[in-house]
Amino acid sequence: MTTNAQGTGKRAVKAVIPAAGLATRFLPATKAVPKELLPVVDRPVLQYIVEEAAAAGITDVLLVTGRGKTSMVDHFDRRPDVEQRLEEKGDLKRLEAVRRTSELADIYTCRQGEPLGLGHAVGCAASHVGDNPFAVLLGDEFVDVEQPLLPSMLDLQASTGGIVLALLEVPTEETSRYGIASVEKTAESDIVKVTGLVEKPSPAEAPSNLAVLGRYVLPGTIFDAIADTKPGAGGEIQLTDAMAALLSAGVPVHGIIYRGHRYDTGMPLGYLQAVVQLAVKRPDLGEEFLAWLTEFVGGRQG
Ligand code: G1P
Repeated sequence: MTTNAQGTGKRAVKAVIPAAGLATRFLPATKAVPKELLPVVDRPVLQYIVEEAAAAGITDVLLVTGRGKTSMVDHFDRRPDVEQRLEEKGDLKRLEAVRRTSELADIYTCRQGEPLGLGHAVGCAASHVGDNPFAVLLGDEFVDVEQPLLPSMLDLQASTGGIVLALLEVPTEETSRYGIASVEKTAESDIVKVTGLVEKPSPAEAPSNLAVLGRYVLPGTIFDAIADTKPGAGGEIQLTDAMAALLSAGVPVHGIIYRGHRYDTGMPLGYLQAVVQLAVKRPDLGEEFLAWLTEFVGGRQG
């Protein structure tokens, strides 16, 4: 692909994962363990996210981390001692699983010194990303591997040169948990033109029930917009506000309506649901687990 005067045509090749949060919703579990490393069946949440990026062709991943969270980086490092033990035992399946974590992507890190908001966290990636378009994947949600979202977002961003969001229809009473978009239809049923963005509006103020999901493909110009963004909802520097500023300045903003399954592991209930849903899908233990679960739910086991 070649780049034209608008900067379009260049598919993003880097991803930024903001993962500096304190995860108070999971305390005390997250006192010493980053919430991104909580396991979903046998892999940490963060691995699902890096796998999602890698499957879309992104192998340069920047983790925006905070104090006490360096073990996230260790997870993607080699473990020759563990690998050797598994090799000696002939446990090739686990050996392959352990090696895979270090082969998924090149992992880089930078620190968000203070928790000043999602916009601020993304802003910390400026020097790593430069002027190029890039993807942002929030560290506590991921989508079904069979219904990927990122590839079409990356393609659309490469053709518009603007911002591409993923949108999810949510119940009206949940608008205050998300960034909400006002939209106009396009010729394609799952792609909308975004005409406005507001962070965490009350149901009465929400312009729609289309929530911004934790996947974004952004142009490098977002960094200047973030630098100019004042604290917004919750007193934090919001990515939504920086994107709204680019929208007002005429940058095209599109949304892809996602109709697949999103796993939201940011709260205990969503986390438990993800564990159960993904365990049931596992070829090695799904059948047995589902049989037990069905019996348990039927009240025959306590
Ligand atoms: C963030 C964003 C919000 C988005 C949400 C998706 O909110 O600020 O616009 O809808 O992620 O999960 P947070 O969940 O960090 O409060």
